[in-house]
Amino acid sequence: MSDKGDKIETIENAGPAELQATRGQRFKRHCGRRWWIYLIATLLVILAVVLGIIFGAIPKIAQNSVNDSTLQVDAIAITNPSNERFTLSMNSTAHSHSPVSAHFSPQTFEMYLPPADGQQIVPFMTLSVGRLDIKDTLTINVSDVVTEILDKPAYDDFSSQVLKNEKLSLGIRSNPEVNVGAIKFKVDYQKTVELMGLNGLKGIKLFNPEVLETPMEDGTNMVTDGIIPNPSSFTLQVGDLTVDISVGPQPLGWSVVKDLTLYPGDNHVKIYNHINPRLLDVPIFVASLQAPNTNITLTANSTVFNGEHISWLEKPLHEAPPVIAILNPQ
Ligand SMILES: *[C@@H]1O[C@H](CO)[C@@H](O)[C@H](O)[C@H]1NC(C)=O
Ligand SMILES: *[C@@H]1O[C@H](CO)[C@@H](O)[C@H](O)[C@H]1NC(C)=O
Ligand SMILES: *[C@@H]1O[C@H](CO)[C@@H](O)[C@H](O)[C@H]1NC(C)=O
Ligand SMILES: *[C@@H]1O[C@H](CO)[C@@H](O)[C@H](O)[C@H]1NC(C)=O
Ligand SMILES: *[C@@H]1O[C@H](CO)[C@@H](O)[C@H](O)[C@H]1NC(C)=O
Repeated sequence: MSDKGDKIETIENAGPAELQATRGQRFKRHCGRRWWIYLIATLLVILAVVLGIIFGAIPKIAQNSVNDSTLQVDAIAITNPSNERFTLSMNSTAHSHSPVSAHFSPQTFEMYLPPADGQQIVPFMTLSVGRLDIKDTLTINVSDVVTEILDKPAYDDFSSQVLKNEKLSLGIRSNPEVNVGAIKFKVDYQKTVELMGLNGLKGIKLFNPEVLETPMEDGTNMVTDGIIPNPSSFTLQVGDLTVDISVGPQPLGWSVVKDLTLYPGDNHVKIYNHINPRLLDVPIFVASLQAPNTNITLTANSTVFNGEHISWLEKPLHEAPPVIAILNPQ
């Protein structure tokens, strides 16, 4: 009996029994031989999830926090003007919230006037900035970058708005690379900032007219002190500004402010006037120079820097409505 049993068992173990192994056993054996397939498959799934996070979720989170960030331009300086290029400085502050520590690779901001619906963006200047570590409050101060005028009509339009408007909008965009650890990806950066303009140089005041008994070599026969208000956060180097002056319909001559740079706030300047000499022979006219609150009409004629007429300053200033300055305000 036991022999038979043994035999049967032996038979069962040896042949068909193996073929008819339980599912569990088969799986185990299968795994035994193909373990590496499962390992690779598992790793691929993990990799896919990680890649999904890296290339899907993280960039989306980053793009969202870039979209939610705000930008404030604290100050802009446009100096060394020419018709091709100028020197640009800009101080700005960005507020953002980054859940992880990250930085932007060096990037180039393009600036433009927000286009009307359906119109193309036309950048007129760029500003390159170095690596920026992303923080809740991020200071982006750039100074003295020589900047080419990329599109003259667009830049003329911008300059005109800066000089004439009380407020203007400036578009700023870039396509920076965000670095989170070793992971890099691009995001779209696009903001519109509101800026104060120079508001047509309204509110110029003139003081202390002094008629020179002997005119200067350049023909200046009267000097005055002036205050030119600049309510904006722009610093604008204008150069020599020449204006035609009149009282009502009566032309008086012309005036020059030499080497003018308009800083934010009140600008105290010396004005060199070329008054029609025949007027200076009229005692009533000379006496009237001391009267309070005389309106003087100023019409900008030219701006010259480094011997060059700067058309993007000269044209909008000349085309703007005349500025009424008050002589001896009281
Ligand atoms: C971010 O803003 C841009 C427009 O400035 C928009 O096209 C994009 O869909 C926004 N992305 C996210 C992730 O919100
Ligand atoms: C930016 O800030 C620095 C430091 O306060 C200052 O020296 C510089 O003039 C500012 N730039 C502009 C364009 O106002
Ligand atoms: C950046 O500019 C702001 C605003 O003009 C100024 O207050 C700050 O001191 C500047 N920071 C540096 C590091 O120049
Ligand atoms: C001077 O100009 C102001 C506007 O700028 C006007 O309100 C005022 O009446 C003018 N005064 C004279 C005397 O023309
Ligand atoms: C500008 O000034 C020049 C002389 O400096 C003069 O010849 C010209 O007529 C002026 N232009 C205007 C529009 O007043």
